[in-house]
Amino acid sequence: MTEDKRETAVTTPVRVPKAGGSGERSAIAAAGRAVTKAYGSGETRVLALDAVDVDIARGRFTAIMGPSGSGKSTLMHCLAGLDTVSEGRIWIGDTEITGLKDKKLTQLRRDKIGFIFQSFNLLPTLNAAENITLPMDIAGRRVDRDWLDRVVETVGLAGRLKHRPNQLSGGQQQRVAVARALAARPEIIFGDEPTGNLDSRAGAEILGFLRRSVDELGQTIVMVTHDPVAASYADRVLYLADGRIVDEMLSPTAESVLERMLRFQPGGDPRTPGDSDGRGRAS
Ligand SMILES: Nc1ncnc2c1ncn2[C@@H]1O[C@H](COP(=O)(O)OP(=O)(O)O)[C@@H](O)[C@H]1O
Ligand SMILES: [Mg+2]
Repeated sequence: MTEDKRETAVTTPVRVPKAGGSGERSAIAAAGRAVTKAYGSGETRVLALDAVDVDIARGRFTAIMGPSGSGKSTLMHCLAGLDTVSEGRIWIGDTEITGLKDKKLTQLRRDKIGFIFQSFNLLPTLNAAENITLPMDIAGRRVDRDWLDRVVETVGLAGRLKHRPNQLSGGQQQRVAVARALAARPEIIFGDEPTGNLDSRAGAEILGFLRRSVDELGQTIVMVTHDPVAASYADRVLYLADGRIVDEMLSPTAESVLERMLRFQPGGDPRTPGDSDGRGRAS
């Protein structure tokens, strides 16, 4: 039944990735149908999401871009079950989360979803290793040592595991946050500007690790970013404007993302103020 409901996706049909994802049956890690989110009411009503249809492919890296206030964070929070929708339906894997009771939703978030935030959210009194396994310890889940070793290896943290957050650089702390998200083998990881607080070198390292976790570990990642370079690590970029998905780009490069941003930005290319781009398109 849910399959029928999901046939109306407007974006590119999802192909099953070669890496095979994380061994789940569905090629879709998360889906939304006619997702609408309104804040406030009457005069002050804001439509943050306006009937969004979206499929997130399993084992792929998806970036969400768009101007400030376009609904990126709201979409991510709704998909991740951190926020409720006003209308529409959302699935994580084969489980519809819209309508789930609080307890079930909390459990599903804990078991199936990983988060990486801009501020790393590490506990200062725990060392790196303890921070990484904390969510599993809280959930009372056995830590899969082989997997943990692989994750730690992938994010390049071996040799730093006994360090506390204040003994680590920003980039290293964010690696711990990435490892923490990966360690529990979530069906999907959501990041809201996960490299927003890092210098470009540390950011590039983290994005490289996220990319490798998709290619080598079969992880599914959704990342909100405003940075064309960050977006270029993704397989696909979804563009939001005024609460709608207005465009997508497959196999993005930093150049193609930047070019698109400038084309749609009021005022156009700051490098050629007030001019067209030379190919007949006004800025
Ligand atoms: N808690 C809230 N209360 C009222 N309005 C909100 C709230 N959160 C977001 N909005 C509004 O919803 C729209 C989308 O916000 P958001 O998803 O944060 O955009 P983005 O992440 O793309 O910058 C904006 O107009 C914002 O002001
Ligand atoms: Mg935001």
